[in-house]
Amino acid sequence: MTARRKLIAGNWKMNGLKADGLALASDLAGRLNGAGEVSFDLLVCPPFPLLFPVGDAIAGSALALGGQDCAAKNSGAHTGDVAPTMLVDAGCRYVILGHSERRADHGESDALIAAKAAAAHAQGLIAIVCVGETEAQRDAGQADAVVSGQLAGSIPAGATAANTVIAYEPVWAIGTGKTATPDDVAAMHAHIRAELDGKIADPAKAKILYGGSVKPGNAVELMAVENVDGALVGGAALKADDFWAIATSC
Ligand code: G3P
Repeated sequence: MTARRKLIAGNWKMNGLKADGLALASDLAGRLNGAGEVSFDLLVCPPFPLLFPVGDAIAGSALALGGQDCAAKNSGAHTGDVAPTMLVDAGCRYVILGHSERRADHGESDALIAAKAAAAHAQGLIAIVCVGETEAQRDAGQADAVVSGQLAGSIPAGATAANTVIAYEPVWAIGTGKTATPDDVAAMHAHIRAELDGKIADPAKAKILYGGSVKPGNAVELMAVENVDGALVGGAALKADDFWAIATSC
């Protein structure tokens, strides 16, 4: 079996002002630095305005920084967009792409997500490409097909296990307190692993994260599921104690 180091990623979404973000990130960086050898990588993805101050605050620590989105280009007349080069400039190593909230609220297509991922890769960023079905799609027995389609459309040419992470986030489990059962997660992650063949170089080494109401109370069980290589955490990533408890449950 291929050993894959766990990645615990915190998606702060549109939460927190500068003081909150600095306090949370500094707390986590301090815990990580004091913990010695750990079995996981820890990542925070704050809102754009906090990337520079948080990046400066955690520079030199083992805590990694990521953006929550990026443009498919590096400059130009694109009001409101943020370039991959700007994320790198702020100290980011990762960028979340294709989150279901971006797909739903901003109409992001698989093709656009693939273009963003390619642009991120070109700057040396690791793209966390999100996929996941809605409750209606799951009830209709379409979960596997929906996720297959998203993977086929959102992963760009040139994707490798080193530059691409997949996050499976069933839409119905995000922020709802409902979590997929370990059996459902195992089945979908095995499906995703099989689908990566031919889409990502070295698919056995690619990380597949689970996201959707991950909490300290369910993290041990979820992180033990085969092919679950970490978590993409929303609400529980806003509290240092909860996020740390999830990470140390690996
Ligand atoms: O990207 C993480 C997210 O969508 C899951 O959110 O609040 O259910 O952990 P939450």
